[in-house]
Amino acid sequence: MTEAIVFRRVRALDPAGALDAEVDVVVERGRITRVGRDAAAELVASDRVRVVERAGAWLMPGLIDLHAHLREPGAEGKEDVASGLRAAAAGGFVDVCCMPNTRPVNDSRVVTEMLVAKARALGTVRLHPIGAITVGQKGEHLAEMADLKDAGAVAVSDDGRCVTNSQVMRRALEYAATFDLPVIQHAEDHALTEGAQMHEGAVSTKLGLRGWPRVAEDVIVARDVLLAEYVGARYHVAHVSTQGAVRILRDAKARGIGATAEVTPHHLLLTHEALLGYDTACKVNPPLREAEDVEALRRALADGTIDCIATDHAPHGVLDKHVELAEAAPGVIGLELCLPLLLGLVRQGVLSLSRLIDALTRAPARVVGLEVPRIRDGARADLVLVDPLARWTIDPARLRTKSRNTPFAGHAVQGRVVMTMCEGRVVHEERHEPHDEPEAE
Ligand code: DOR
Repeated sequence: MTEAIVFRRVRALDPAGALDAEVDVVVERGRITRVGRDAAAELVASDRVRVVERAGAWLMPGLIDLHAHLREPGAEGKEDVASGLRAAAAGGFVDVCCMPNTRPVNDSRVVTEMLVAKARALGTVRLHPIGAITVGQKGEHLAEMADLKDAGAVAVSDDGRCVTNSQVMRRALEYAATFDLPVIQHAEDHALTEGAQMHEGAVSTKLGLRGWPRVAEDVIVARDVLLAEYVGARYHVAHVSTQGAVRILRDAKARGIGATAEVTPHHLLLTHEALLGYDTACKVNPPLREAEDVEALRRALADGTIDCIATDHAPHGVLDKHVELAEAAPGVIGLELCLPLLLGLVRQGVLSLSRLIDALTRAPARVVGLEVPRIRDGARADLVLVDPLARWTIDPARLRTKSRNTPFAGHAVQGRVVMTMCEGRVVHEERHEPHDEPEAE
């Protein structure tokens, strides 16, 4: 029987402990029991030990996604808890927070408990439901946050819809603060975005499509920051997309207001020009913006103004996407592509590797109060092993998610999750199929 797993001579990267060294990491009974140069030298010969050795591999703390849509209950054809968590594990995630815009909306103890129970029974990676801010996400009456928290919710959000009413938002911040729950806002003034298909700019004009102006995000973030300051609550902005919102957040942080934010891989990598061919895979909410926004988001992520990266994994089926742009549902899948896509920004020098890992581990853990994943003696064994040199081409048909809606199909990437471990259990391991092998250089 295997009693220990040894990661032999890996480059271990743990920004929270300033660790970046070639070491052995030993895992026993769900915990990391040894970290050090050649620390497992005398263990590797034992037949009770599984040795994982891969030249040049990196070992990181398991990743945390603050923002995924797992579609259960109500749209299990697009995704469900089991497939979503499989995709998460394949992407290197060990903690997934799932948004409440399901059918029914997760505004109740019973839905939260169902999600927690399903995930627990699967025994893969951990699921943390996010409850709704308002009943039915209608923006009117506050949901019963005490019940949500008690059942396992780690935050509240009406994601997909914005809480536009200032009085409701004020009360939501006050009420959530009493349970120490962060309020995650989908910042969109719906009055300014009615009928919008994409970012309002030169491309929307050219295509003759109604635009979603940046200011619809900015006015909500500005108001919410003022409200959060006034009532002293924890406020988090989902999928920040504009340079204006970045400016407001920078100012808020400088003044010590408890505001945090996340950015998605697609907003860091694509602009509204991706819509020039009317590709519904590029329709997302908030929309893809302009090069100057992308630049501002990248800088803000690098300097910590934007705290975390979140996937906004939003699976949709062909019936939602293989239609004309105006009819198409917004959203892109993200769990399995996040890390490989963003490693490209590290190679380009946009982001340091340690900041990338921090934005996917410690920073999101802090937003929702989860244990910070670490690589050190005694830590819970939540780990992801990455081959940084493996080159592959994104083929949506080969992903674990049930949906295929990605604008990155056919993109060449470098860097691949080889193994994900959650509490000492191997929850994902790279398949060894011939056409799955890294392409030769
Ligand atoms: O693109 C998006 N898709 N943005 C959202 O806010 C919601 C999400 C979804 O649920 O599909």
